[in-house]
Amino acid sequence: MSAPEVAFVTGAGGGLGTPIVHRLAADGFHVVAADIDLDAAQHAVVDVGRAAAVELDMADVDAVRAAVDRAADTGALTALVNNAAVFPAGPFVEVTVDEYDAAHAVNQRGYFFAAQAAARHMIGLGRGSIVNIGSITEHGGWPNIVAYATAKGAAGAFTRSLATELGRHGVRVNCIAPGAFPTAAEAIQPDGYEAAIYAGQALQRRGRLDEIAAAVAFLCSRDAEFITGQTLNVDGGWKMR
Ligand SMILES: NC(=O)c1ccc[n+]([C@@H]2O[C@H](COP(=O)([O-])OP(=O)(O)OC[C@H]3O[C@@H](n4cnc5c(N)ncnc54)[C@H](O)[C@@H]3O)[C@@H](O)[C@H]2O)c1
Repeated sequence: MSAPEVAFVTGAGGGLGTPIVHRLAADGFHVVAADIDLDAAQHAVVDVGRAAAVELDMADVDAVRAAVDRAADTGALTALVNNAAVFPAGPFVEVTVDEYDAAHAVNQRGYFFAAQAAARHMIGLGRGSIVNIGSITEHGGWPNIVAYATAKGAAGAFTRSLATELGRHGVRVNCIAPGAFPTAAEAIQPDGYEAAIYAGQALQRRGRLDEIAAAVAFLCSRDAEFITGQTLNVDGGWKMR
């Protein structure tokens, strides 16, 4: 019997992370659901046959490496979804060094070293899919969330450079840029955000959480085997280029 395919999902207990766990498990992956909030990660795997919850702080690079390596011991690690994030918000002139560092340690450095740990295994397998969850804050300007936008904006550049380096090993790297989805993260948005969403989006409804999971599942599937280095906006047509 061949080794099970393993997917490692970070921020798995969150609004978008949990549907990603459910969808990848439904698609046949054994899912390692990692989150700094163990209760939330455990909640994400309730009634999911092929999933295990782990407590992980993405800001702790040694812990990230160890968790990814442990996941790779359980099967063929062929999918990594970098989804965890923190959401500092407030006027630019008040951003502290700690807030700036936290945003980058989780939303950027964490993605970088989780991908590095996963890539070491994927290169050995000759295949794999890394999906970085970016944000449409990569496009345009977003006041009051400058530290967040700076860190998330790196996801696209990281994706393209890594895809170029890992392509020869059969490892694909893509980015999904969500638009506006109703999760706890929306707390950082200003009054009037709902109206701004409808003014910005081509499609006049709110995005469903499972619609990010569906895009992740596609990029992790064999159907996407010729797609790498791309950023896919899943945003109801808010940002187009
Ligand atoms: N919701 C949106 O509208 C939206 C828009 C654009 C991008 N995104 C991106 O989608 C992703 C998921 O966001 P969400 O909306 O589900 O938010 P969320 O707050 O519901 O989930 C984030 C999860 O990350 C976890 N987390 C935070 N710090 C962590 C750490 N140090 N280590 C490990 N886990 C940690 C949290 O515990 C939480 O479960 C993020 O990368 C976010 O930037 C979301």
